[in-house]
Formats: sequence, C-alpha cells, structure tokens
Amino acid sequence: MNGKAEKDYSQYFQPPSLADAKKRGKEEIQVHYEFEIPPEMRGLGEGKFYMIRTYGCQMNEHDTETMKGMLEMMGYRATEDKQQADVILLNTCAIRENAEDKVFGELGHLKALKAERPSLVLGVCGCMSQEESVVQRISQKHPFVDLIFGTHNIHRLPQLLQEAFFSKEMVVEVWSKEGDIIENLPKKREGMRAWVNIMYGCDKFCTYCIVPYTRGKERSRRPQDVLAEVRDLARRGFQEITLLGQNVNAYGKDFEDLDYTFGDLMDDISKIDVPRIRFTTSHPRDFDDRLIEVLSRKGNLMEHIHLPVQSGSTEVLKRMSRKYTRERYLELVGKIKRAIPDAILTTDIIVGFPGETEEQFEETLSLVREVQFDSAFTFIYSPREGTPAASMEDNVPAEVKRDRLRRLNDVMAELSRQSNERMQGQVVDVLVEGESKNNPDVLSARTRTNKLVHFRGSRELIGRIVDVKITETQTWLVKGELVEQPEGAKQAI
Ligand code: 5AD
Ligand code: SF4
Repeated sequence: MNGKAEKDYSQYFQPPSLADAKKRGKEEIQVHYEFEIPPEMRGLGEGKFYMIRTYGCQMNEHDTETMKGMLEMMGYRATEDKQQADVILLNTCAIRENAEDKVFGELGHLKALKAERPSLVLGVCGCMSQEESVVQRISQKHPFVDLIFGTHNIHRLPQLLQEAFFSKEMVVEVWSKEGDIIENLPKKREGMRAWVNIMYGCDKFCTYCIVPYTRGKERSRRPQDVLAEVRDLARRGFQEITLLGQNVNAYGKDFEDLDYTFGDLMDDISKIDVPRIRFTTSHPRDFDDRLIEVLSRKGNLMEHIHLPVQSGSTEVLKRMSRKYTRERYLELVGKIKRAIPDAILTTDIIVGFPGETEEQFEETLSLVREVQFDSAFTFIYSPREGTPAASMEDNVPAEVKRDRLRRLNDVMAELSRQSNERMQGQVVDVLVEGESKNNPDVLSARTRTNKLVHFRGSRELIGRIVDVKITETQTWLVKGELVEQPEGAKQAI
C-alpha cells in the first residue's frame, strides 16, 4: 500500500516542517519580476482539461486564479467534470479540523477515479500541504496522489506537473520557509470583481492559528507593483477590487527602505478609477489612525470593515496572544464609528477556546451587542497541531462549545435582522453580481457595506452599479426595487 512512501523520492521530495516554518529568517525578501513559463512547457496541456477544487479563504481562491492562469498558458482548458479532467488539484485549507476532513473525504472519492484512469494527475496543494503530518498521511493512506506542493511553491506548478507526468513516484515539493515574492504570475480572473494580494504571510502567531506556519512571514508587495495591478484592472473595467492579506494592517512594516503604510496604500488606491475598493483581513492591533482618516473620505473606499475580535474577554484574548484588550478593541471601534458613522463592522469569533469560562463567553456576547456587528463568522475552537494552544488543556466540553456557538449565533441573527430593518425605505447603490440562486428573474447585488440585496431586474444590469430602494428586510437579506436612472448615468463594464 505505501510503496510510494517507502521508495527513494526524487529530488522533488521536500517534506514540510511546521517547526522550520516558525524560524523567521532575517534575510531580505527578494522580489522576482522575471517569471515565465518555459516555452517547452507551453504545449504540455494542449487538448487536456484541468479542474481545481478550492477550500477555505479568499487567499486560496486567489491562488487558484493564479494556478488557472498558469495552466491555461500551458494549453489546458477548465472543466467542472471530474470524468473529463486530466489534472485535478485540491487547493486545501488547514484552519480547522473540519476543513481538513473535507479534503480527506474528497481524496477517498477520487481514489476510484484514479484507479479507472491512471493517467489522471491528482495533486494536493494549499495550506494542508505545509503540515508534515498531512504529507505523511497522504503518502501512507492515499499513495495514489501524484503531486503535493506547498503555498510557497505555486509558481513552480508547470515544472512540478511535468515531473508528476514523467515520474512514477509521488512528487512532493513543500518549502517550509517562505519563498520570495514572485511578480507577474498569470491570473485567470472572471466577472467584474477581482482580488489583489498586497502582502503574504502573517507574523502575529495567535496561539490557536496555523496560518503563520503555513503561509510564512509577513512580506509586502512593493507599492508600485500593487498600484500597477490595480490600474490595469481599472483599465480592464473591473468594478470592485478586494485587497488581500492575512493582516493587511501590517502592510509595509517589512519595508526597510520605505516609510509607507496600509493607510498610504489605500490613499493612493483611492485615486484610481475603480468604483469599489474593499480589503480583508484586518488585525485590530495594527489598525491605525492614518487608515481611519483615509477611510473616512470614503469615495471608492467602502465603509465595511471586517475586524476579527475572536473573544470579548481580555483574559481569553491574552491566552490567544491577540495583543489587545477588550477595552482597546472597543476604543478602536469607537474611533472608527466617530470617523465613519455609517461604517458596518463584521467580525470573526472563536468559542470554546481552552479555559474559556461561562463568564468569559458572556463577555463575548456583551461585546457583540455593544459593537452591534452586522454579521460574524463564528467558530468552535479546533486544536491545530504545532500551535501553542494545541498544548493547552482543551477543557470546554463539546456540548458546551456547541451551546455557546448556538447562543452566539442567535445574538448575531438578531443584530443582523435589526441592522437590516434600519435599511427599510432607504435608496442604496448596489453592484449587481448576477442572478440570484433560486430565481433567474431576481438579481443579486451588494451594497457598499457588503449587504446582500435581491431585486427584480434584467440581466443587462449585471456588472453595473444601480440604485435600489429597500422594500423588505429579513435576517440575512434585504429586498428592493430598482430606481430608474437617467440614461448613461452609471458606468457599465
Ligand atoms: N479554531 C477555530 N477557529 C479558528 N480560526 C483560526 N484558527 C482557528 C482554530 N484553530 C478562525 C479565526 C480566524 C478565522 C479565519 O478562523 O476566527 O479569524
Ligand atoms: Fe492567524 Fe492571528 Fe495571523 Fe489572523 S492574525 S492569520 S488569526 S495568526
């Protein structure tokens, strides 16, 4: 069964190590501009199909766009049909155990397909590949996988794929330490919204989180490269751009030759002619006054701030190593609300962190009510191997964790319902994203504050920004009617 695991791996076998990933190098990050797909690899995918399954966050979604870009430059075409695919890649997420379980479940399904069609190349990439325990488990229990590569090895996809074709061994290339920044990777973008990476990695080391190990140290793209990409997307007619980083507020802190922060970047981007700019994710500790000042000028900077709090208890925050207190967080929220009164705040919360008492959980509930978040991603704590919290006693019983999650979600639903009710009768401008899932006559759109709006209208409005009057509000959705606009008043893509 594990023949592949025991054989001598080729030069491509580089097993990952979370411990090595933690050792932050002092060496400067190099930026490489010379990326290209070697000419001899360009025809490799001619007449063949690929499929990529993406799990997890927007960073992963965007990495998938990069891999699609490379595959299409090699001649591959996309398919959604597993039976048709010659290459299937699973771009994985390691943030919680259930994310990993889904991937192992999918690998179980793909085993039969691989047995039917041995020429199929099956690859696993993304955050799970950065964990040694995962690579070991795949090589032992799923030896039919052909290729494993890490988050720092994405630009090597063409070479790795070629190696996987010709090798009888499982090809594994996972660099534990971050690579440099590679510019000019191709990207396959679709629709009217685009993601742009502004930085990679995270140095915060919250005690529960695997990301600083799987994504490496914080490294910012040079401002001129980010601005050039945003300008190019603007020229191509994209209506909305979301700037991505695990902790966007740390942008620029790694520049040794330049005093340039995330606020400065947002200021420069606000001058580019793109209707909507968003960003995610923020860390409260690094969210500074300069950024608040720039955001308060609004324009194309949306008044939606995703500001993960994780817990409302200073004691728990300390054990999470979040580096702020409940009071500091509330102060920051106060500042934001004074500067941008109609700002909508959303958050991430973990319940059942090791040692969390009922009182400490209630502090989370009271903070949520005080801030009046519009919505939240809420999670039950899940221990991640190699993180400091994994060696703390996970002493909150499972049913207590589930109960806390339910109580928190009830409060969140109530807050969201109230916030939506306040929109009744308002006229808001929305970006029309597409048809709604269940009814092609109904369009699905987003407000500046990222609220979901459904209204009746023609497909021609997709990709445009239009005014809608809110006529009905529900807990997670508001409905409205199109307000007729003067001809040519709004820009089409
Ligand atoms: N368990 C539960 N939730 C987690 N998150 C990160 N790590 C864990 C973990 N080990 C949540 C945090 C983070 C979001 C992306 O996922 O709330 O903000
Ligand atoms: Fe994880 Fe904390 Fe970094 Fe966010 S800031 S990616 S939660 S370590």
